[in-house]
Amino acid sequence: MSDLPTITEELQPIVWQDGKLLLLDQTMLPASEEWMTVHDVTGAVEAIRSMRVRGAPAIGIVAAYAMAIAARSIEAPAMPAFLGELDAQAARLTAARPTAVNLGWAVQRCQGAARTCSTPDQAAAHVLALAHAMREQDIESNRSIGRNGATLMPDSGGVLTHCNTGALATAGYGTALGVIRAAWESGKRVRVFHTETRPWLQGARLTAWEFARLGIPATLLVDSAAGALMASGHVGAVVTGADRIAANGDTANKIGTYSLAALAAANGIPFYVAAPFSTVDPNVQSGADIPVEERPATEITSLAGQRIAAEGVEVWNPVFDVTPAGLIAAIITEHGVLRPPYEAGLHALVAQPEVTEVA
Ligand code: MRU
Repeated sequence: MSDLPTITEELQPIVWQDGKLLLLDQTMLPASEEWMTVHDVTGAVEAIRSMRVRGAPAIGIVAAYAMAIAARSIEAPAMPAFLGELDAQAARLTAARPTAVNLGWAVQRCQGAARTCSTPDQAAAHVLALAHAMREQDIESNRSIGRNGATLMPDSGGVLTHCNTGALATAGYGTALGVIRAAWESGKRVRVFHTETRPWLQGARLTAWEFARLGIPATLLVDSAAGALMASGHVGAVVTGADRIAANGDTANKIGTYSLAALAAANGIPFYVAAPFSTVDPNVQSGADIPVEERPATEITSLAGQRIAAEGVEVWNPVFDVTPAGLIAAIITEHGVLRPPYEAGLHALVAQPEVTEVA
């Protein structure tokens, strides 16, 4: 359809156009590039739960826009009733997925913004302006993360990444994938390896698609080949994203990240985490307190709608794991590179002033 956004050279999967929220549906990639419209909070929750939009920063931004849509549609003449209804919608959005802290962080910021206003109309406009600002800020942050992280990448060796942390997982550019991209753009000819990322195949489906789009050669491997690859001496660095970083630096990210970090340590390879400050949760002291989402068994027992596991098998499907801070050589942020111990650096990071308005 002609009024839908085309994928520009700069991939931006979350678009506000003509008063509507449009998302590039990630469940359809790489087979087809289809945009969907989010009409309300129910639609946003469905898009987040079913991973039409996924990746910690991306789901935060979509939730912020969903708050703006909710604020515009609440029919309440006065602020107390308006805020009560907005808070109810906020709770629904926050519950959509539990691990990525960016979701609750974005929703809380919208609730706070609404509370600075004196009428529902003002609040609706203010929350929308905040959602726009968060989207812009995310792209800018990711570019800074890329610049900061590029300096840590080898000049020509191999770099291994996991899941999808690119433009699709953010408002644009990406975090860990952005680091690799920035290294490439700065002239470093790294050899990129990425996992397929069982069971949802974010790597095989999305990361492979993004690297191809960027013209960066990349090699796909099954998750369980990562140890052999590292032992072969072909990997100079491992870099992943994060869904929640605890105050002590323990980091939750896509299931399999901990295995990669342990294997990197065993092979003397630096393991880096790339994330914006919105992924740091100062209220969680260590990884033990991070809630880990478990998803349906069918994600493991079936592939592309075909049953692949024997009938009756029991399944455990945690979709994130926690990498202890001790295995992380550095946390790459938009404000610089943090080295262990992480407590003081992360504390200073979350104290940074936040963007509240569109420029
Ligand atoms: O389940 P997903 O696909 O939402 O998980 C995504 C990840 O684990 C990413 O590594 C993380 O959100 C960082 S994205 C910049």
